[in-house]
Formats: sequence, C-alpha cells, structure tokens
Amino acid sequence: MAVWVLSSLLLVMAAAAATPVVNGDGGGLTVGFYRESCPDAEAIVRKVVADAVRNDPTTNAPLLRLHFHDCFVRGCDGSVLINSTETNTAEKDAKPNHTLDAFDVIDAIKEKLERKCPGVVSCSDILAIAARDAVSLASKAVTGRRWSKASNMYEVETGRRDGRVSSAKEAATNLPDSFDGIRKLTTRFASKGLDLKDLAVLSGAHALGNTHCPSMAKRLRNFTAHHNTDPTLDATYAAKLRRQCRSAGDNTTELEMVPGSSTTFDAAYYRLVAERKGMFHSDEALLRNAVTRGLVYEYMRSEESFLRDFGVSMVNMGRVEVLTGRQGEIRRTCALVN
Ligand code: HEM
Repeated sequence: MAVWVLSSLLLVMAAAAATPVVNGDGGGLTVGFYRESCPDAEAIVRKVVADAVRNDPTTNAPLLRLHFHDCFVRGCDGSVLINSTETNTAEKDAKPNHTLDAFDVIDAIKEKLERKCPGVVSCSDILAIAARDAVSLASKAVTGRRWSKASNMYEVETGRRDGRVSSAKEAATNLPDSFDGIRKLTTRFASKGLDLKDLAVLSGAHALGNTHCPSMAKRLRNFTAHHNTDPTLDATYAAKLRRQCRSAGDNTTELEMVPGSSTTFDAAYYRLVAERKGMFHSDEALLRNAVTRGLVYEYMRSEESFLRDFGVSMVNMGRVEVLTGRQGEIRRTCALVN
C-alpha cells in the first residue's frame, strides 16, 4: 500500500514537473522564492536598476518591455536573452526584437548575483524583478514618495527557471504587431492565458518609452486604398507625427509614446488613446471592444485603479508557461545556455 501511494505521488510530481503552466494559481511561483537561498537577490536587482535609471531615466521602458517580450515567446523563461549561434537565430534577432534594449543592465545584475549566490537566481526571474522595479521607479515621481521596497507597485512572484531554446521564428509569430486590430490582439493574449482586461491594462505600459518610425509610419501615408491616414488616428496628431517621421524607413528618429512624460508611469496613455492619439493602431484598437473601451475610460478617470490593476496583470503575465522545479536550468550567463 505504502509503495503504491509513494509511486502514485512520484507520478503526480513527475507530471507536474513536465507540464508548463499557463497562468492559474502561480504554478510553482511564490513571492520571496529566494528568501533563504539568496536573501539579497531582490535588493541587488533593485540597486542595479535604480543606478541604471538614475544614470539614464529612459532605461525603465526597455526593462519593462524585455519581460513582456520574454513571456510571450515560450513563456517567461529568459529565452529573449539568449544569443544567436552559427546554427540558430535566436529571439533577439527577430525583427520585432531589434529595438529591444537594456540587455547590459540584465547582464550587470546577473554578474552581481552570480558573485553573491552562484547558480541560484534565474535570468527569467531577473527580468521579472527588474521590470517590476523599473515600473515602480517610474511611478515614484507620480506619488512623490521616496523609493524603497515598500513602494514597489506590486509583489513579484519568483521561482522561474531558464529555458534552453530561443527561436527568432517563434518570436515573429508570437509577439503582437503594432498594426494588429482588436480581434488579433485578443487571440494573441488569450493564447497566453491573458484576457481582455490584461490586454487593456498591460497596454498601459506604453505610458513609458519611445517608438521608432517604422513601427507606426504606415499609419501616416498610403494607409489603405481608401484612407491615406489611419482613420483611427486623430488627423491633427497625424499631421504632427508626419512632420517628425519623414519616411517609414527612418530608423533613427524616436518619438515619445506620451509626449512630455515618457519616463513617468501614469495613466496619461489612456487619455491619449481616448483622444485617438495612441501611437499604434494596436493602442487605438482598445476602443473597438466594449470591455477594453470601458477600461480605457475607467483608467483615464482613476489612476489608482490603473496602477492597482497593472500589478495584477503583470503577475498574470509573469505566470505564462513558466518552467519551475526541475525544469530548465539556472543559466550562469543570461546570453548563453549552460
Ligand atoms: C498589446 C500589444 C503590444 C504591441 C503591438 C506593442 C508594440 C510595441 C512597439 C511596436 C513598440 C516600439 C518599438 C520601436 O519602434 O522602438 C513598443 C514599445 C514598448 N512597449 Fe509595447 N507593445 C504591446 C504591448 C506591450 C506590453 C504588454 C508591454 C509591457 C507590459 C509593452 C511595453 C513597451 C514599452 C515599455 C515600450 C517602450 C520601449 C522603449 O522605449 O525602449 N508593450 N511596443
């Protein structure tokens, strides 16, 4: 009897270890996973992020975006950080990832953590913690508080392990496109276990950062046979953007997502979307569904609900298809499989 119980238990444990988790109850992730194995892990991440952002306030945006691009391809497994090799083109080299940045900040964090607790903290967890810290730091200016652990926007779950596979093709097919409409976005998010509310609130990440012309210039000229300009974009705003982006191939001009406040994390993005001044077709798509439209107006009215819901949806996104337990590995260098 005891042998039967033990072997059933082992089977259940083996099945759990082999099944990637999509969303749900945290799927093996916990708040404070490194409490005993590397007690200073979160403090080390926070210090490196804070130093980087102090040096250059625009660093918070790419740190947030890296975690999103990681989670949407093979789950939050650090695969976005792996370098291409002679035989494999990795996610990093896929077109939508050409404008990713802040890899050096992740490397600096990993180096410090490896010195303190070798082989313990995964690169995927570093991405999740750094994203949380970047966004908390950017919202500090709004609340006027001094930044400390207590002013983190949300508690980040940890315990992810790193994947060993990274494919540019998978990045190209899984990442949302800035010209996607609401149906496509809904399907893409649903395929990651994320719902319309997650879509509406996570799009608010575009309160931070910049874009390059190729991501939106198609909206400004020869949009379709019937419309020279994307009809979902405010005409006066389109004229202003046209003066900034002289051509769709202009790779060097950067435009602030939210003019004048692109290093501050607040609900200003939703006001722009409501005024049809969102940077991307995908931002304006939020007005094409009753649920997402309702949330645009709610967050425009209440920054408090936006900041609260953003934390909840970041935790949801951080649970996508994670590797835990004995799956994957803890990479020694984030850009290289062990
Ligand atoms: C809903 C679908 C989304 C689409 C289609 C999309 C698309 C894009 C594009 C095209 C850019 C600009 C790239 C460039 O030209 O430089 C961008 C920037 C950015 N995205 Fe998204 N995004 C989406 C959702 C998200 C989510 C969920 C997050 C984070 C939770 C996020 C965070 C960011 C940030 C922070 C930037 C600015 C990056 C920087 O300044 O370096 N995005 N996004």
